[in-house]
Amino acid sequence: MIKPETVQRIIDTSQIVEVVSDFVSLKKRGANFIGLCPFHNEKTPSFHVSASKGIFKCFGCGKGGNSVSFVMEHEHYSYVEALKYLANKYSIEVEEVEMSDEMKAELSERETNFAINQFAQKFFTKTLFESDEGKQIALTYFKEREFSIDTLKKFQVGFSPSSWDAFILEATKNGYTKEQLVKSGLVIEKEGRYYDRFRERVIFPIHNISGRVLGFGGRILSSEKSQAKYINSPESDIYNKSKILYGINFAKNQIVKEDNCLLVEGYTDVLSMNQAGIENVVASSGTSLTTEQIRLIKKFTSNITIIYDGDPAGIKASLRGIGLILSEDMNVKVVLLPEPEDPDSFVKKNRSSEVQKYFEENAQNFILFKTKLLLSETENDPIRKSQVISEIIDDIALIPNQITRAVYVKECSALFEISENSLIGQLNKILTKKFRSRVKKQGQDTSGIDELMPIKEEEQQSRLEVDYYNPQYQEGAIIHILLNYGTKNFKIKDLDENNNKQEETYQVATYIISDLTNDEIDFTNALYAEMFLEYKNRFFENDSNIERFFTSHENEEIRNKAIDFLSFPYDISDEWKNKHNIETPDINDESTNILQEMIFSSLLKLKLRRIEMLMKDIENSMKEETDYEEIVLMMQKHKSLGDIRLELTKHLNIIVTH
Ligand code: CTP
Ligand code: MN
Repeated sequence: MIKPETVQRIIDTSQIVEVVSDFVSLKKRGANFIGLCPFHNEKTPSFHVSASKGIFKCFGCGKGGNSVSFVMEHEHYSYVEALKYLANKYSIEVEEVEMSDEMKAELSERETNFAINQFAQKFFTKTLFESDEGKQIALTYFKEREFSIDTLKKFQVGFSPSSWDAFILEATKNGYTKEQLVKSGLVIEKEGRYYDRFRERVIFPIHNISGRVLGFGGRILSSEKSQAKYINSPESDIYNKSKILYGINFAKNQIVKEDNCLLVEGYTDVLSMNQAGIENVVASSGTSLTTEQIRLIKKFTSNITIIYDGDPAGIKASLRGIGLILSEDMNVKVVLLPEPEDPDSFVKKNRSSEVQKYFEENAQNFILFKTKLLLSETENDPIRKSQVISEIIDDIALIPNQITRAVYVKECSALFEISENSLIGQLNKILTKKFRSRVKKQGQDTSGIDELMPIKEEEQQSRLEVDYYNPQYQEGAIIHILLNYGTKNFKIKDLDENNNKQEETYQVATYIISDLTNDEIDFTNALYAEMFLEYKNRFFENDSNIERFFTSHENEEIRNKAIDFLSFPYDISDEWKNKHNIETPDINDESTNILQEMIFSSLLKLKLRRIEMLMKDIENSMKEETDYEEIVLMMQKHKSLGDIRLELTKHLNIIVTH
């Protein structure tokens, strides 16, 4: 158990921005920091971090908390583990109570698995550097391959002895049971007997993003073909091959700095590149990338450069997997190494500066690279050529960004020697089809490739209180504010570019009327529309008693409504009461900005509602429309409305949670 004083010290010392920055690249925005949320997939940042408040909040998925909860959530740590992580980060000493065997058995399976992997990593590393066998066989092997001690230490490389049970003996001596060892994958059970899985292999620990060991890859030392060159930890409750990338914990900071991630195939490629000073590199471990892996990279950059060995068969096979990267809106480049080099051999033969230069000069845009490669094989065969064109257009259609697509269409039109318009025609057919199936499936999870129906916006919006989304309700709220507070002044508090607090005073009615008029918002409810118009007229005529004008209005409906609104001035502020936990908000209390929030939020909600009505209309007419060019136009309109909606939603979220 950690002492309460130590817990407090850890919490007080932890700086939320520093803690989060280890996992998410943050940009300063006003008083806060923003970035792409690590807890859900998103393309535009809605993850906010407030240094002064010590908290994070994602306005997309709703997750929020402090440094400790961030680490718990992100690393799937328990409370105690998160505290220990932070203590370690800030060099705060935590008294570790030595675990008894009983305590070990009580630890959750998952935690045991983490502990075993960490224990195994230490055992393997120790064996490599300290045992006779390790030094004589394994270190010699690495020396021949020109890996430095520093590199091996950095990657926590190790060696598993040739004995059948050296690890089992050591681990059981330290309190782990054979069953636990089998569950971790480090030990194999066969007919009641137990064996070390990785015996006589050099060991590459596989780490998660924060450096915890999840599993291992073990390479055979000989070039003997009868055994697999590598064996890897089997999938377990902590090791999921499709979700991790080898080297990501060592690469993440440099990936952010370079705004690019280099992708290679193997463990040794990552080591060699690092040794040559190129650190923004991860390995797919010989398999094609998964969406989860791409999203992992995307936390740090949207640029990815795939380094290929110059083997044409291998390249063509891997081209197929790249659609996934495109549809995640990543910019993909490829570098072909001169045959027969792989990254490992290439960086060892050339100076680092030459390698860097080679990468820079030979990085080609993926789509153009693929186009050229496939075209070179068509040999004036028109049928093959049209197949190639279709294939490339399929790729381009995967790219969510409209502008990027347009650029590719232009470039490919030149390469194919075919008009841009006929490529656009083909592209639009595919996009339309996708959009159609998307509209049909609406309501279901359609997250994926098509940006035309923006997914993120919907996710965000669903968090907002649906009840308040009736435009009539919003219109009523505006009239309510005008009648009760129209002639009052309110202050808008904001930060300017230099982070200085600034305040400006506005009259409520002037602000609301000009805001709605500027945005050409008219009311849908006839009664409220009339009330708004009349209010506006009275206001501009400098009527000194507008309330009385309304409470004695000749139209009974208007009169009753006005009385209603004026007699329950706090009616609509229940929402704020709940949000802010205040009993009776005092609108005139200058230390709060309740009035400002109320005004902003009502205006935003009204606009949101109106935009959604327009979007619904477009969706409905789109279902009827048969001309695909018309549909594309509608999609564009729909998209730009969606963009506005997203903007408004963001503002609204910021207001209602502050
Ligand atoms: N791999 C594997 N199992 C195998 C072969 C390969 O898991 N039987 C994975 C490993 O992650 C390996 C990657 O595929 O790192 C690339 O394979 P390869 O190029 O053969 O290995 P390298 O890591 O380059 O190793 P070396 O340099 O020693 O050949
Ligand atoms: Mn290799």
